[in-house]
Amino acid sequence: MQKTIIITGGAGFIGSHVVREFVKKYPHYRIINIDALTYAGNLENLRDIEREANYFFVKADITDAAHILSIFQEYQPDGVIHLAAESHVDRSITNPTAFVMTNVIGTVNLLNAAKEIWKDNYEGKRFHHVSTDEVFGALGDTGLFAEDTKYDPHSPYSASKASSDHFVRAYHDTYGLPIVLTNCSNNYGPNHFPEKLIPLCIHNILHGKPLPIYGDGKYTRDWLFVIDHAKAIDLVFHQGKNGDSYNVGGFNEWQNIDLVKELCKQMDEKLGRPAGTADQLITYVKDRPGHDLRYAIDASKINEELGYKPSVTFEQGLSITIDWFLNNEEWLNHVTSGDYRKYYEEQYR
Ligand code: NAD
Ligand code: DAU
Repeated sequence: MQKTIIITGGAGFIGSHVVREFVKKYPHYRIINIDALTYAGNLENLRDIEREANYFFVKADITDAAHILSIFQEYQPDGVIHLAAESHVDRSITNPTAFVMTNVIGTVNLLNAAKEIWKDNYEGKRFHHVSTDEVFGALGDTGLFAEDTKYDPHSPYSASKASSDHFVRAYHDTYGLPIVLTNCSNNYGPNHFPEKLIPLCIHNILHGKPLPIYGDGKYTRDWLFVIDHAKAIDLVFHQGKNGDSYNVGGFNEWQNIDLVKELCKQMDEKLGRPAGTADQLITYVKDRPGHDLRYAIDASKINEELGYKPSVTFEQGLSITIDWFLNNEEWLNHVTSGDYRKYYEEQYR
């Protein structure tokens, strides 16, 4: 069936994989990528599909309500997949207001635009909000986040995402807007911006720079390959139950220090360096304020109800990721020039 789908944040890390998945898998859909092209948005991520007949790009800031409404009026989308966000926890600690503007106000602007053009006729319509496991707060040594785990965000980033989740549900409960949510764990893969742990370490190993480990390195994250997140979004967008949320993860927990050591091992092998070379770059640095101890997703609902299963193991995904960065040094050089250097100096001085 012919459909028009707006994907926000499609020039970013996860958004670019979602755009590619939809453009390629659904040639009969019109895919409209709305992105403000902040420091994290990069059209180079979409070079391979930018000439496809069913792909359109519109540069727009989701905090600009009038512009967003005019785009919705022009394209008349049947669906919205909303990924645009300020996404880095450390940046939210230094500049929380930017996170309220994009993640909260921007989301409300999109909800208003969808409500306005759909005008209470919701047949065949869907607003999919892409969120994070960080809204649930931090786990101790045991337990998993389920869909009904109480929200308990700690960072300005997770507080802004929690707020946006509440608004999405409120528009469903109050106005009947057809919605679905996904709350995913940490992603990794090609095109990951090198402010985040894995690509930052890959970049620093390549350049012989310190690998900064916050605190004691015992913090735990649950890692999922980005293309498997894009596939989960496709599944939930098309088959998820109206009003429901789905946790997405790969049952793949790693303490940061073990993960970085694994990365060092694989990088040494791929670069033909003696074992233990990259390990010597590991440097313990000041902890992140309010650092959440552990995230871990119970993904049984999406697995059992929608038959979701990640396509790669962590070992395979990490190997694909490292190879991508080694083969795309030009991409890495572009995104680490200019503003990135200033950010890096301030964050790690
Ligand atoms: P990212 O920072 O790589 O990309 C964000 C994109 O949004 C960029 O292209 C940027 O230009 C765009 N953007 C930012 N502000 C905008 C604005 N005001 N108007 C329009 N576009 C704007 O983020 P990501 O890691 O790809 O995350 C995408 C989404 O997935 C976010 O909503 C994030 O909360 C969520 N998420 C991320 C992860 C993860 O591990 N990265 C895990 C779970 C959920
Ligand atoms: O859980 C999902 C979330 O994962 C997403 O919602 C966020 O958008 C995404 O950025 C990510 O958040 P994290 O804070 O978990 O990711 P980050 O890569 O920044 O950090 C991963 C872990 O590594 C975390 O415990 C902090 C630690 N860390 C991070 C950096 C950047 C370090 O020890 N050193 C570092 O230099």
